[in-house]
This record gives sequence, structure tokens and C-alpha cells, in this order.
Amino acid sequence: MRVLHVVGARPNFMKVAPVLRALAGRPDVVQTLIHTGQHYDVNMSDVFFEQLGIPAPDVNLAVGSGSHGRQTAEIMTRLEPVLLESRPDVVLVYGDVNSTVATALVCAKLGIRVGHVEAGLRSFDRTMPEEVNRLVTDQLADLLFTPSEDGDENLRREGIEGSKIFCVGNVMIDSLLRLLPAARNVKHDGLPERFALVTLHRPANVDDCLTLRGILDSLLQVSRELAVVFPAHPRTRQRIAEFGLGSEQLILREPLPYIEFLALQMRASVVITDSGGIQEETTYLRVPCLTVRENTERPITISVGTNVLVGRDRNKIAAELAKALNGRAKQGTIPPLWDGKAGERIADVLGAAMPRSRGFHAA
Ligand code: UD1
Repeated sequence: MRVLHVVGARPNFMKVAPVLRALAGRPDVVQTLIHTGQHYDVNMSDVFFEQLGIPAPDVNLAVGSGSHGRQTAEIMTRLEPVLLESRPDVVLVYGDVNSTVATALVCAKLGIRVGHVEAGLRSFDRTMPEEVNRLVTDQLADLLFTPSEDGDENLRREGIEGSKIFCVGNVMIDSLLRLLPAARNVKHDGLPERFALVTLHRPANVDDCLTLRGILDSLLQVSRELAVVFPAHPRTRQRIAEFGLGSEQLILREPLPYIEFLALQMRASVVITDSGGIQEETTYLRVPCLTVRENTERPITISVGTNVLVGRDRNKIAAELAKALNGRAKQGTIPPLWDGKAGERIADVLGAAMPRSRGFHAA
């Protein structure tokens, strides 16, 4: 079986690693890895490959940044000849970034089977670029690997055949579990005993000056109670500089490598974020998470985990922060199948669903 994986942006890398690893142990599997180059900074990409033990990509499409239309189109244009030449049995795509939807579209038009890892998540908010990517990718996919039962329900409601849907658990947690021991050994010099860990990068939060100023003001309020550690996405850093919103109290750091960031999450008193994956990681680590959004495509982190939606409401943020500091934050449990074996389950499904090798042997 020839499996081709396509990744492009930071949150893809921790998802592909366990699947590559699980398939590497299977007989008659040949794997190819394509990096679209959507994320290209060393600290947004290379360092993740290194820490997660992902082999160097066989091909890098080097698409770089651009508007959504241009970036998606560029990935499609550069990927098509690669797929025409390699003709894999199945292409695996991950998450909800532009690289995911662009790949699914190319495959659907070439008649190549697509497996979507992290299928079925829905925020029901189509102003969010990732929601559009999820909807389109799931309609085109032949195999849909969901992290939790709510994903299966969403897919069935959208008319996707039950025989294509496989609830395999959460691949991000596979990576987290594997690298937790390394994270426990990280020493952060000068880190205060208690701190709030912050990440922000959603266009809806950072691209408008007034909105971003409001959120930064809330964070300044937080910083009166608790040190704020803020590793900033390049987009956020650019906007803060562009809008002249820098502040001495909020110390912006470069984006951190996976293990170092995991170490910070484990030690944080509270995490304030608009990321998707971090809502899941904090649920697993049982660290209080305040999500600076009005909705989430990961409702299980609220119903079962430690996540609370605070929107951009300063009072809600302050109230939830007080709870976290007084030890009254929401107590969560770990969702079913978030057990470090999702990658193996995906490999099992592929083994059963795909044709036997046509004369290829494991590399
Ligand atoms: C992308 C994903 C988002 C994911 C996020 C994680 C889409 C639609 N969005 O958003 O779902 O949560 O990645 O990081 O695919 N930039 C750099 N260096 C880089 C990459 C980006 O400086 O290596 C800057 C560029 O100015 C670029 C901007 O960040 O224009 C945005 O990058 P882009 O990949 O378009 O989207 P993200 O905001 O990173």
C-alpha cells in the first residue's frame, strides 16, 4: 500500500507523526511525505519535524504565505503533478488548514482516495476559514477518522455514509503522550512559579486593531494578578507592531518548539488561547483553559474537559481567572480513546480498507 501524507502548517505536524510511526511498522507499506510549505519559519516548522521525529519531507512545495485563495490555489497547482507521478493508493490529510482542503480537492479530481485525520469537527461558524476547510474536506474524503463521537454525529447529519467513518481517538494526544517525559525534563530559566500561558492567532482576534487592543487590554488586566507568558505567532506579532499595541507588561516571546511549549502548558496555572489543539492538550493535562472565542469545534473539551469559552468578555476572563487562581477551576476528565493509540487504529483501518501492495515493499 502506497500512502502519501500531506502536511503544511504547524498544527499538522503533531498529527502526522504518530500515523507515520504506526504505518512504518506495517508490512507492505511505502510512505511518502509532502510538505506544502504553508508554514516555513524554522520555529513554525523545522523544529517540530526534529522534535516529533518526522523524517524530512520527500517533497517541499514551498508555497509560502498569501491570501487564502492564492495559497490554496498554489498548493493545488504544485501538488497535482506530484500526485500524477506518484499515484498513491491513499492520501492522508490532517486537520483543517488550507493545505488540507487544497489536497483533498486535487485528490478528488484525480480519483485518488483521501483519508481525513481529525474529521467531523464543526464550530458551525462559516466565518472561520477552518470551518470551510473542514466541511469541504469531509465531503470529499473516502475515509474519515474522527477524534470523538460528536464528530461521527456531525458527519452522519451531513449525509456521510457510516461505513466511511472511523472513531479512532485523538492523534494529537498520541504525540503529547510520547513527548511528555521529555517535557517534564525541560528547565525554563526565570519562569515564575505561577503564570498564565497565552496564545492568539485567529484572524478574527488579531487582524482588527480594536479587537486586538481589547484582548490585549484584558491580558494586561490578567498580568496584574499573574505573570503572562505569551509566545506569539508571527501573524500576531506583525499585527501588534503594525497597530502599535506593544506593551512592557506583556512579554512577547518567539513561538516555542513542541516540547518546550508542552512543558509550559503542564506548569501553567491557566492557559488563555484561541487555538484548537491547545483546548485538547489542556483537557488532557487537566489545566484550566479559557478559550477566547464564541464557539469551538471541539465541544468535548467543554462537556468533558477543562475548557471554558470566554469570548472577548473581560469580565468572564477575570471571573474564570479568579477561579483558576483559587483552585476552583472546572475539573475535567479525559475523553474516551485519547489514549496514545489513535495512530495505530488509523493504520489498522487503512490495512483493512486498502489494496494489498502492488509489488512495493516497506522502505
Ligand atoms: C494557519 C491555519 C490555522 C492554524 C494556524 C496555526 C489556515 C486557514 N489556517 O493559520 O488553522 O491554527 O496555521 O499556526 O490554514 N507566517 C510567517 N511564517 C510562517 C507562517 C506564517 O511569518 O512560517 C505569517 C505570514 O505573515 C502569514 C501569516 O503568518 O501571512 C499567516 O500564516 P497562514 O499560514 O496563512 O495562516 P495562519 O494564521 O498561520
